[in-house]
Amino acid sequence: MPSLNIAPASADDYRRIAERRLPRALFDYIDGAAGAEISLADNAGDFARLKLKQRVMRDVSALDTSTSLFGEAMAMPLALAPIGMGGMMRKRAEVQAVRAADAIGIPFCLSTVAICSLEEVAKAAKRPFWFQLYMLKDRGAVSELLKRAKAVGVRTLLFTVDLAVVGARYRDIRNGLSGGGGAYGRLRAGLVDSLLHPQWLMDVGIGGKPHVFGNISPYVPEATTPADFRQWVDSQIDPGVTWRDIEWLRKEWDGNLVIKGVLTPEDAGAAINAGADGVIVSNHGGRQLDGVASGISALPAIADALKGRAKILVDGGVRNGQDVVRAIASGADCALIGRPWIFAIAAQGEDGLKRYLSLVKHDVNVAMALTGTTRMSEIGPDILDRS
Ligand code: FNR
Repeated sequence: MPSLNIAPASADDYRRIAERRLPRALFDYIDGAAGAEISLADNAGDFARLKLKQRVMRDVSALDTSTSLFGEAMAMPLALAPIGMGGMMRKRAEVQAVRAADAIGIPFCLSTVAICSLEEVAKAAKRPFWFQLYMLKDRGAVSELLKRAKAVGVRTLLFTVDLAVVGARYRDIRNGLSGGGGAYGRLRAGLVDSLLHPQWLMDVGIGGKPHVFGNISPYVPEATTPADFRQWVDSQIDPGVTWRDIEWLRKEWDGNLVIKGVLTPEDAGAAINAGADGVIVSNHGGRQLDGVASGISALPAIADALKGRAKILVDGGVRNGQDVVRAIASGADCALIGRPWIFAIAAQGEDGLKRYLSLVKHDVNVAMALTGTTRMSEIGPDILDRS
């Protein structure tokens, strides 16, 4: 294992630093996925297996990584994916993340089940951020969350549709974060583990108020612990949701609507027919149904089916700038990163995330220069080596 004094250079370096800083159950909550974690491994593996075609002796002196999405300028085609309970990993993590994303010039997406609320993040944000929502059984709460999002300037809503039920995440079950049973033993183990991670304990456990889920707390007034909030969320997940509900949502939300969690051309088409402006090709970081395709492998067929009718985003396994370029070459307008951003924040806070994002941007530059492309619009399937 590398020394803690290394200057982190990759997503994996931040992951290792975060692993030492976080209590085990929190590290596993981020790092883990469903079942045998085969889709998790495929997500990164399928990106890594996509070969880029090196091209040389082209003038790449004026290189531009920027793009725009839904009328918003972005320093590169990358956004921070919604991550639940981020504020348990670092004090007010979502506020630190939006600041880092703003500094680099890319969008941050706040999760429904974030620790910091829409209103708290909005106070720190310098540009519009995105909001992610699940279909809760309590449609009144959904409507109110949409109104709150609108009121703080959110223009882009990511609506997650791959959570009709919660995937079986074995690490969380083992650690007692889900699956029920053994509460006393878990509490004791959790306390001991916190004491073994004093930096985390001082920063988050004592100083970070990580026990309140800011967005949903108005709807769960009786909740006082993370377990109470999780229980409420689990009870609110609506397995009866269909595309009809997206048509309802379309009427409630007049901003950009992006459906997160499709893996087939049929579902992507249905999302657009229901009124969405875009889709995210995603398997939820491998956390839902283990054994499904990776987002990057499902992307080309979806891009082909939608043929410019809607924006296409992709996530799952994006770790560096080459992956961002691979995503664009495979037909995406933008990629998202999940675990790497929360690991960078857990490891070194806002500065860590800024540094990680600068490294990614630098990688995007290198990948463009050495595939002979100077603009995002020049990146297409021809820069992939299929031989
Ligand atoms: C997630 N993801 C997620 N998605 C969502 O729509 N709402 C959420 O609250 C969460 N929460 C969440 C927590 C954690 C710890 C992880 C790792 C992931 C899924 C996330 O937005 C994204 O789809 C994946 O993380 C992308 O894969 P990578 O980049 O983590 O490989």
